Amino acid sequence: QDRSVQVKLVLLGEAAVGKSSVVLRFVSNEFQANKEPTIGAAFLTQKCRLEDRVLRYEIWDTAGQERFHSLAPMYYRNAQAAVVVYDVTKASSLEKAKTWVKELQRQANPNIVIALAGNKIDLVQPSSSASSSSDSAEPEEEADDATATPGENGVDSGENLRQVPRDEAEAYAQEAGLLFFETSAKTGEGIVEIFTEIAKKIPIE
Ligand code: GTP
Ligand code: MG
Repeated sequence: QDRSVQVKLVLLGEAAVGKSSVVLRFVSNEFQANKEPTIGAAFLTQKCRLEDRVLRYEIWDTAGQERFHSLAPMYYRNAQAAVVVYDVTKASSLEKAKTWVKELQRQANPNIVIALAGNKIDLVQPSSSASSSSDSAEPEEEADDATATPGENGVDSGENLRQVPRDEAEAYAQEAGLLFFETSAKTGEGIVEIFTEIAKKIPIE
């Protein structure tokens, strides 16, 4: 007995935020450092297993370049789910994401499940787990330690690359009724979660 339900899902967002990379991570568990821009759209499928059922995602990965904007309605029409992606290191990409959300809320299926994903989180996190408790019990020499005092100037933490505060995006998502994630297609952080949390919100037919 095949209990798998087909779910049409569309990815939208500004060019180069990592839509195709998010899909590649979810479908193949791979990452490409120099992924070429999508032309038109790409179609991929992947199963998603929940405790009580299996969904089969039919994924439309759209092109973010402005010249392809007019094609988008073909891909979000009848979609049951959408992932709108922005880049946490680029503030303008969140503004673009908001315009996609508005367009979806006006033009797409009224029951569409929308997730907002702030991608490239690996660029704004410390690469090693530098202890945040700098006043711990070890009275070591502090000078000449290049990894000391992250957060003092942000140089080591990568926080200087962040242009979209998590709080700000999360508050917007809540207000707009969206699921919210910060993700990295590069490390895989948060990627499967997007698709499983969406799956849980798709009604059983
Ligand atoms: P369009 O198809 O033009 O709309 O772009 P896209 O949104 O599909 O972006 P794509 O997946 O092609 O990624 C653009 C660039 O960002 C590529 O060089 C990716 O390797 C890189 N990239 C994507 N996701 C991440 C990430 O999570 N972290 C880092 N560091 N780089 C990423
Ligand atoms: Mg792409």
